[in-house]
Amino acid sequence: MTEIIEIFRKEADRCAEEIKKHRSIHVVSHIDADGLTSAGIICTALERGNFEYTTSFVKQLDENALDTIADESHELVIFTDLGSGMCEHIKSRGINAVISDHHQPQGTLEFHLNPHLFGANGSYELSGSGSTYLLASALGKNRDLSSLAIVGAIGDMQHLKMGQLTGINRKILEEGVKGGYLEFKKDLTLFGKQTRPIYKLLQYSSDPYLPGLTGDEDACINFIHSLNVRFSQDERWRRWIDLEISEKQKIISGLFQYCLNSGIPSYKIERLIGEVYVLLKEREGTEMRDASEFSTLLNATARYDHADIGLAVCMGDRENAYENAKKLLAEHRQNLVNGLIYVKENGVTQLENIQYFDAGSQIKETIVGIIAGMSSTVVENRDLPIIAFAKTDAGVKVSARGTQDLIRRGVNLSEAMSTVSAEVGGAGGGHDIAAGATIPENAKEEFTRKLNFFIGEQLRRKVNSG
Ligand code: C5P
Ligand code: C5P
Ligand code: ZN
Repeated sequence: MTEIIEIFRKEADRCAEEIKKHRSIHVVSHIDADGLTSAGIICTALERGNFEYTTSFVKQLDENALDTIADESHELVIFTDLGSGMCEHIKSRGINAVISDHHQPQGTLEFHLNPHLFGANGSYELSGSGSTYLLASALGKNRDLSSLAIVGAIGDMQHLKMGQLTGINRKILEEGVKGGYLEFKKDLTLFGKQTRPIYKLLQYSSDPYLPGLTGDEDACINFIHSLNVRFSQDERWRRWIDLEISEKQKIISGLFQYCLNSGIPSYKIERLIGEVYVLLKEREGTEMRDASEFSTLLNATARYDHADIGLAVCMGDRENAYENAKKLLAEHRQNLVNGLIYVKENGVTQLENIQYFDAGSQIKETIVGIIAGMSSTVVENRDLPIIAFAKTDAGVKVSARGTQDLIRRGVNLSEAMSTVSAEVGGAGGGHDIAAGATIPENAKEEFTRKLNFFIGEQLRRKVNSG
């Protein structure tokens, strides 16, 4: 592992040298938590290096987006958390570029940082923000930015495969810990430990899904009551961080018992506890203190056309931008709840090798992937990849989510989505475990049929190769 990171750093040095030849730089990034933290990292590094820079954020780096960027004739463009799938298109437009990404590469480019090029897996060993952190480290002293790198990795759920960050991500984590910026520890994994009343952690639990508690506020309040844990203090709801250790233990063992009694398999129950990541320089009780809450706060901005707000928070704004982000977060949360209800009520259609739902215009295309991922906990069959469709102005957005088990059995959603979407006149890509595409409106049926077949082939190929 040491070797891979050293080779990566050498490449980062080369990219940094290229960047230093320019004074004015344009940064293009992705509209999610990893994209925002990537942009936050590189923009901070550029600011510290006295560069002039501009930014833009895109949903997808497609040919149209590249045409726009080419028309703007920038001296140098740094692509973060995207770009690797479009190397040839970037070159053919004569864009002078540095790419810092972790999606599966297609084509080649001279200044290109991507874990896949160095024998590491970009779906769990390094995120876009991690790659960009190594680039920023080559540009100057930027170790404090390791916390943003970890927030991006958690936003892309890179810790899920091993139950903790591994690979180059872990090296970055260790740097952050050494610098006093980060802490990791075993704790309850439920979302909202810094900011939410305790019962809300249970009410919104989707992994594991807690039958009888998830979605039922009264039941969650009663459950905590039954454990003799005080809810409020000085007329304020108590949060997880407000509890004594003994109270935390009471809730954890109560939850384990509850899950056992509900017949939840033990490998799922174990997911209640895991490694969590704390940003030590952030104020306690704020979203930014917890990597997972921070990443959701960021998703609540960029996925709703407010990347500027998320970027400002990444770059340290704890006043206006933070206040605005919190408002967006409340709406985002509501949209996620509504989206999950939609999936529950409308159900999914099962084919032989995939299952899918079509959200039409009921779920925004920029969050349908998140909901597809969360819905794995409300569908009956966890053995099939989940495919979600949502309407967009320019066709249909498709999001696909798989599981570690499916990957072991040969499924690669990135390959499947890019191949099959291209066959029907669309484009897509991503990671083995999570991928997306845009396809023409009238191609949905053909796409579904072909994807079902293609994934069947991936499974058969694996069986045949032993
Ligand atoms: O564009 P990007 O690489 O940031 O997106 C990664 C996506 O993969 C995220 O939406 C993340 O939620 C998803 N993912 C997942 N399960 C994993 C790892 C990643 O759903 N185990
Ligand atoms: O949009 P969604 O969250 O489903 O994206 C999952 C993964 O697929 C992300 O890594 C995203 O960057 C990638 N993707 C892609 N091409 C698309 C849509 C998504 O490479 N057209
Ligand atoms: Zn990413």
